[in-house]
Amino acid sequence: MAIEVRSLAWHGKGLHLIDQTALPREIVRLDVTDVDTLIDAIRRLAVRGAPALGASGAFGVAIAMLQAEREGWSEDTLRDAVSRIRDARPTAVNLAGGVDRVLPLVPKGVAAVVAEAEAVVREDVAANKAIGANGADWILAHVERRPLRVLTHCNTGSLATAGWGTALGIIRELHERGVLEVVYADETRPLLQGSRLTAWELDQEGIPHFVQPDGAAASTILRGLVDVAVIGADRIAANGDTANKIGSVGVALACADAGIPFVVAAPQTTFDPATPHGDAIEIEERPESEVLEWGGVRVAPEGSRAFNPAFDVTPARLINAIVSERGVTEPRT
Ligand code: MRU
Repeated sequence: MAIEVRSLAWHGKGLHLIDQTALPREIVRLDVTDVDTLIDAIRRLAVRGAPALGASGAFGVAIAMLQAEREGWSEDTLRDAVSRIRDARPTAVNLAGGVDRVLPLVPKGVAAVVAEAEAVVREDVAANKAIGANGADWILAHVERRPLRVLTHCNTGSLATAGWGTALGIIRELHERGVLEVVYADETRPLLQGSRLTAWELDQEGIPHFVQPDGAAASTILRGLVDVAVIGADRIAANGDTANKIGSVGVALACADAGIPFVVAAPQTTFDPATPHGDAIEIEERPESEVLEWGGVRVAPEGSRAFNPAFDVTPARLINAIVSERGVTEPRT
């Protein structure tokens, strides 16, 4: 039986977030009622994952409006606060999309904005359920082996969305259909969304899994231990090029070489027709300390610098299927 984890929930005056940086050690709930706290939560990945960022952006506009009322902000200050939320992370198109969706309702008041943000949440959960079914159907039609061994990268589950999950939603669906043997969950360096979050969600549901170092993924695939790889997305360009967590393109290259399908799962809110191809996607670069330190302790020499891109782009030619709530497209064919 699936367990529902809610990454975020509106409570009337602000947003309750599960602080994903504390998982799986403890479940810490943040109460976010001001813009700077929300931006900080987004930047340090207390809330993360493209669809969860979209919902946070939508509720963030309501948070800004309430703070504006409390503190007597000018229209310019409110506008500036909303654009700071919109720009808090650049790669996932969902964040800007969530903000932009509710903006036309600002003149109607906070209740109207919150109602629209709640619709973003409902629609995301429904989209994820449909993605789960569409993705499982496609995989079962294109992969012969039973039971299936699935590799995934980063975290795309309930925590990363408004509920259920995208790639992890497909994995849940395969498990519910009784056709899943095991999941290889890449640990996802440097912030460990795989070993801390994906493994936690899989463990909660009793889904058999191995956590493996990111550096093991290509070898696991080439050794024939994986039947299909399923990942999420932060932005899908008009030509199908897909930005996702750093390390995704290496998985895609290994899948292409091994001749197994590489599947991307994302709701329509992650598709960005205004971005023509992957080269036009802005890739977030994160603090060097995330790479140079381990548990807050410097491990690399003082003279070393870090290159820490949070995402990479998988070219459409390496993607066998893009699964959304509307169905499946096959960029490689
Ligand atoms: O930096 P993160 O943890 O926000 O990166 C998340 C990912 O790359 C996910 O795969 C993507 O947002 C899809 S979540 C359904």
